[in-house]
Amino acid sequence: MASLTIRKLDDAIKSYLRLRSAKNGRSVEEEVRVILREYLEGSPTPSGAALARVPVVPAEASASVPQPARRTGDGRITLIIGGGIAAYKSLDLIRRLKERHIQVRCVLTKAAQQFVTPLAASALSGARSYTDLFDAESEFDAGHIRLARDCDLIVVAPATADLMAKMANGHADDLATAVLLAATRPILLAPAMNPAMWSNAATRRNAEQLRRDGIHFVGPNAGEMAEAGEAGVGRMAEPLEIAASAERFLRPKPPQPLAGKRVLITAGPTQEAIDPVRYISNRSSGKQGFAIAAAARAAGADVTLITGPVELDDPKGVAVIHVESARQMLDKVEAMLPADIAIFAAAVADWRVAHEGGQKMKKTAGQLPPPLQLVENPDILATISRLKEKRPGLVIGFAAETEHLIDNAKAKLKRKGCDWIVANDVSPATGTFGGDRNTIHLLRREDGEISVDDWPVMTKDEVAVALIAQIVEALRTPA
Ligand code: CTP
Repeated sequence: MASLTIRKLDDAIKSYLRLRSAKNGRSVEEEVRVILREYLEGSPTPSGAALARVPVVPAEASASVPQPARRTGDGRITLIIGGGIAAYKSLDLIRRLKERHIQVRCVLTKAAQQFVTPLAASALSGARSYTDLFDAESEFDAGHIRLARDCDLIVVAPATADLMAKMANGHADDLATAVLLAATRPILLAPAMNPAMWSNAATRRNAEQLRRDGIHFVGPNAGEMAEAGEAGVGRMAEPLEIAASAERFLRPKPPQPLAGKRVLITAGPTQEAIDPVRYISNRSSGKQGFAIAAAARAAGADVTLITGPVELDDPKGVAVIHVESARQMLDKVEAMLPADIAIFAAAVADWRVAHEGGQKMKKTAGQLPPPLQLVENPDILATISRLKEKRPGLVIGFAAETEHLIDNAKAKLKRKGCDWIVANDVSPATGTFGGDRNTIHLLRREDGEISVDDWPVMTKDEVAVALIAQIVEALRTPA
């Protein structure tokens, strides 16, 4: 009988199991047993009001939920074999890809042919292998363009330091580099080189450049080198690992339930200047708002993120507008309307100083510190919630509280006029501000009442995906 190690399951499945088991008050193992039992009894879907609101992430809201690989042989890979001792493993990689019903066509660099032959690559792939940019037979119809485009993915294994340097600088002086330069499909590199070459500043620079250019990497791994007595990071990833990584690019794209929807999100703190060098702000990291932006994007939405100063990378595929103060944030939010959904996750400073100093304030010996007169900032959430024509269909606010969480959040929902409030306890003991986890209570207006759902502790990424899943659900069943 096979045994199942939950720790080794895919992250998305683990987080689904954690959420489900926490909601049902069962251990994860017990939950798996229940799911299997339900499946055998023909009722895999949980039913009943108690489970209806579990913040479970539907497959279509999460790009990371595993999907079955294609089985029809329609996945096509151009495999570029570079010149390194790891090239012998590329022959095994061809077998692993073929086992997965993936069509493989190989390109061998000149150096690769010192280690493996085009004949061996052809025999294993069942297709002609290519070696020469100036091959009259294949180049009469621009063969390098075909090799670059007639595939779903280009895999480079082994990717040598030299090949990476050429790619990073846009060289195209042989067939492999010409294919890579002409590529419009994703490229996956499996680097393999001596650890000193991998850690060399030039290679680090090139790898960084390639990542910025959108190239994907698998490995290199740590371990023994072909050179006797050498070990470190530089071993090519194992063929199975490369095949698994490649397969992810060949899966059908998950459905995008928010495709065509415009989502506006605020995030981070605001900074309110006192003078040119000082400001009032708060401890918000922006992580929750950024995670929501990424999750909305993954669900296919057209996302604009308006953020105060944070130390986070802009999420991919999201239009990010950086601002400092609450008034700038409001201006940008208004300028970006209309939107279908607006989520106000920013920790906007409630006050700014009435008279911002044009110059740095100076201490004067023997005098009291200058009094700071504060005035209230505009309330962005309340302003947008009260709009008539341009009000987004769904307006969601956050409530950051340190006491009386639910009561304060209910009052905020009413006061601000939004539709939902995501309430979270931000007292220092919870570690929410700046941390990676969050405990959420989702408050919604429903038929004149306010409903409250308590979610289990989750990472901010999980909260984001679960919130987007709830939004998708709400759009499906309009009130
Ligand atoms: N918010 C806003 N503009 C402000 C203040 C808050 O848009 N000037 C939004 C926040 O983005 C959040 C919600 O209002 O979605 C609640 O923010 P919070 O800081 O929890 O509450 P406050 O409005 O500041 O109220 P209090 O200080 O009483 O907690």
